[in-house]
Order: sequence, then structure tokens, then C-alpha cells
Amino acid sequence: MARCHQTYRTPAPPRPRRRNTLTKIAVFAGMVSMATTALASETLDTDALKRLVLQDCGSCHGLTLKGGLGPDLRPESLAHYDVDVLMSVILDGIPDTPMPPWRPLMSEEEAEWVARYLLQPESMQ
Ligand code: HEC
Repeated sequence: MARCHQTYRTPAPPRPRRRNTLTKIAVFAGMVSMATTALASETLDTDALKRLVLQDCGSCHGLTLKGGLGPDLRPESLAHYDVDVLMSVILDGIPDTPMPPWRPLMSEEEAEWVARYLLQPESMQ
């Protein structure tokens, strides 16, 4: 009788894939918040700011900034902005639209850098 118990072993169920994906998302979110903390430092990390423009702004404005959910952010499209106005759009967002305020995530100095970078990318290398 005891042998019967050993004869049939149910195979282990396949590992749920979803958990792995969720773990990756959690790790990624952790990296994003670390990057955000780094942005608050005194000296400007311009490589991080460039990545932020392409990745974070790009997630709405298109990865080449040509427009997506949000409008085209290439220099020719922003020519009517001066640095100060552009900077306040970045810091305060545009109310009642998906354009979020970035003040919680970047300093004024960083927003000014991003504004200048959007207006004249080639002068901000
Ligand atoms: C969650 C989506 C989203 C993100 C992220 C986002 N934007 Fe926007 N943005 C928008 C939308 C939508 C508009 C258009 C709002 C409107 O209808 O006027 C906009 C408008 C703008 C405008 C005004 C454009 C114009 O032609 O007047 C600027 C400048 C701008 N965003 C810059 C940025 C920058 C810089 C970042 C990154 C720091 C950023 N946005 C991130 C959604 C986003």
C-alpha cells in the first residue's frame, strides 16, 4: 500500500510568468526613483537630464520629441517660447491637461537647463 503513494507525483506547476514581470517593473521603478534622487543634487548631471528629456518627456512627446500624446518639442516648434516661459511650463505643467508639473522632481536650475536644451540642443552638449 505504501508504494501507491510514491507512484504518482504531480509535476510542479509551471512558474507563473506574471510575477517575474511584476518584479522587473518594481526593480525598474526603484531605479527611476534613484535617478530622481540623483537629480536633486547640487551639480547638474547633464547626462541624466538628457536621458530624462528623451525617456520621461519622450514617453508623452514621442521618443524623438516629434510629438505623441503631447506636442512636438523640437526647437523649431518651441521657437515662440523664451527660456523663462518654457521653464515655467516644465516646472508647473499645463493645468487640466496631461502635461504634469515637474517641480517635485527637478530644481529650477535643472528646469532651466532642460528649457535651454530643448531650445538649442547643440549648444548644451
Ligand atoms: C504624461 C504626459 C506628459 C509628460 C510626461 C510630459 N508632457 Fe509635456 N505636455 C503633455 C501634453 C498632453 C501637452 C499639451 C498640453 C495642452 O493641451 O496644451 C504638453 C505640453 C508641453 C509643452 C508645451 C508645448 C507647446 O507647444 O506649447 C512643453 C514645452 C512641454 N510639454 C514640455 C515637457 C517636458 C520638457 C517634459 C519632460 C520634463 C514633458 N513635457 C513631459 C504631456 C506630457
